[in-house]
Amino acid sequence: MSATNQHLYLSHRPRRLRRTESLRLMVQENQLTVNDLIYPLFVMEGEKIQQPISSMVDCYRYSLDLLLKEIEEVSNLGIKAIALFPYIEDDKKDNEGKETYNPNGLVQRTVKAIKTKIPQIIVITDIALDPYSIYGHDGIVKDGQILNDETVEALVKMALSHAEAGADIVAPSDMMDGRIGAIRQALDQEGWLDTSILAYSAKYASAYYGPFRDALASSPQFGDKKTYQMDIANSREAIREVALDIKEGADMVMVKPALAYLDIIQQIRQYTNLPVVAYNVSGEYSMIKAASQRGWIDEELVVLETLTSMKRAGANLILTYFAKQIAPQLTKN
Ligand code: PBG
Repeated sequence: MSATNQHLYLSHRPRRLRRTESLRLMVQENQLTVNDLIYPLFVMEGEKIQQPISSMVDCYRYSLDLLLKEIEEVSNLGIKAIALFPYIEDDKKDNEGKETYNPNGLVQRTVKAIKTKIPQIIVITDIALDPYSIYGHDGIVKDGQILNDETVEALVKMALSHAEAGADIVAPSDMMDGRIGAIRQALDQEGWLDTSILAYSAKYASAYYGPFRDALASSPQFGDKKTYQMDIANSREAIREVALDIKEGADMVMVKPALAYLDIIQQIRQYTNLPVVAYNVSGEYSMIKAASQRGWIDEELVVLETLTSMKRAGANLILTYFAKQIAPQLTKN
């Protein structure tokens, strides 16, 4: 078949719009930008410490001094927000999470320092007891059960103390019932009207959190998290959780993990007009790093493809350990 003589008479040739890079960019439907990224960071006590995490290549636990440097770099790359996770030493752990609302605790000091030195960066703090719990559970334990209402009381104190330290957004990741409403009410009562709540609404009892638990030494000491985190097989339940959190006052809702739950992201996007956040969790990160280290995949391309899939599914924002590494490749606006 030559170009002039014989050819098919097709009313549509989708390949026409894929012919050149410029055409492809003109018709591109979704684009990842630095504004979409939230960078999770691990902080620990001490000075001049940058401690590798063996199951999370290129991720570190930082002491506050070096954390500030890291955040400075990240902010210069155009990233707008970080999510802070503390490594808590054993002697500060208990069952009730008393350290969670210590005004001079690690998170509180860290948030204050960040907001003083790098005020433009949005600071998101995690609200849950697990890094502080001797049992590695997100709530208070009694007779092998995770208590709901008692835990919510502790989470409220934790959220207030983070707001007081200067957190822009508090992010309850615990999955206790009623915590969003309780936290919103307490924040309002205390005058923290501008402190936002990012609700980990559809958080699944996932095996993808393994490396994160290494990073914080926060693995459950007994059982699993299935009495509070969601069943991996469910999707209608995700809508129910999101509906409750919105009713209780969430400003943004999250789906976690992201990659194995793209269908949930898509459904939540259709359900609500609030910003939808996807958490590209530690296990998703480490799988890519591991395959890349073996030379089995092109890391840069796979990261871009993975994060773009989350945007395509409907996520407005993505929490990802790849944020710093990918930022230079993305458009700033
Ligand atoms: C704690 C929390 C977890 C993650 C974020 N906050 C772990 C868990 O629920 O066990 C996991 C993040 C990741 O794997 O990257 N509530």
